[in-house]
Amino acid sequence: MGIKKTVSVLGLGRMGTALANALVEEGYEVTVWNRTPKTLPGTTRANTPEEAFKSDVVVTCLSTYEAQQPLLTNDIKVLVNLTSGTPEQARATAEWAKANGVEYVDGVIMAVPQQIGTPQAKILFSGNENHHVLDAFGEPVHVGEDAGLAALYDLALLGIMWSAFGGYLQAVALMGSEGITPQQFTPMAVGFLNEMGALLPEMGEETQTKDYETDVSALDINVSGLHLLAEASEQQGLDATIPQALHSLFERAQRNGHGAHSIASVIEEIRK
Ligand SMILES: NC(=O)c1ccc[n+]([C@@H]2O[C@H](COP(=O)([O-])OP(=O)(O)OC[C@H]3O[C@@H](n4cnc5c(N)ncnc54)[C@H](OP(=O)(O)O)[C@@H]3O)[C@@H](O)[C@H]2O)c1
Repeated sequence: MGIKKTVSVLGLGRMGTALANALVEEGYEVTVWNRTPKTLPGTTRANTPEEAFKSDVVVTCLSTYEAQQPLLTNDIKVLVNLTSGTPEQARATAEWAKANGVEYVDGVIMAVPQQIGTPQAKILFSGNENHHVLDAFGEPVHVGEDAGLAALYDLALLGIMWSAFGGYLQAVALMGSEGITPQQFTPMAVGFLNEMGALLPEMGEETQTKDYETDVSALDINVSGLHLLAEASEQQGLDATIPQALHSLFERAQRNGHGAHSIASVIEEIRK
């Protein structure tokens, strides 16, 4: 077995702490730096980012690129960037790294801190194919040559999560307004979400073929349904932002001639 690389972790928030702990667990010699000085058992604390850059590999996990960018210098040998951002931010950092002779891996973490170090933690990465230290964090999945792709996958997947969670919370509030508890309602929600997830491959295909003919459910009926959900929410004294936003988007597709088409036709409005 070869000698393990030395690794620094910049950012000891919820996720950075989990990453540093996973590296220690894997037997790496770990140095940590955090804006608000913190110590972590099994690691060495760097007083400055520059001190942390002496390691073979630097892993960054800060809240935003805006927080991270001013800290980066060409003293870094290998940068594994796990801070969430847009594809453009990832590409700009890849360009900066190339211009400064820094080897660069761009990754995103599709997991919560508690899953780090387990196979459940998918680490999507793009650009440089070298895994470097990612194996310590979970299961690395290379998603393409373009450094911006990992960020694109990240935001696309989280978008599904945020929409689904928003819909669930609207539902819990609606059911709660009549005294039905989350414990009573949630098993039904989970089953329903699984069934709806199974419809995605067909919907995806429709967005490619643009064949929106349907004998399942027309957009018209879904626009009416969203109106009912917004109205019922308001009648129960709840906020209706989520159903109203969806209603407005779906209704625009309806006005533009997709009333008899499947829900997939809404993508025509989104692509504009
Ligand atoms: N938590 C999750 O479930 C999760 C999942 C996937 C991806 N991520 C991504 O992981 C990254 C970190 O998330 P987190 O949950 O660890 O956030 P967090 O707990 O809020 O920690 C934020 C970290 O960023 C540092 N920071 C903020 N502003 C800074 C600045 N201006 N200069 C230097 N350091 C600064 C904080 O330092 P201080 O301690 O000094 O404030 C802290 O170390 C984010 O990009 C997030 O999207 C998180």
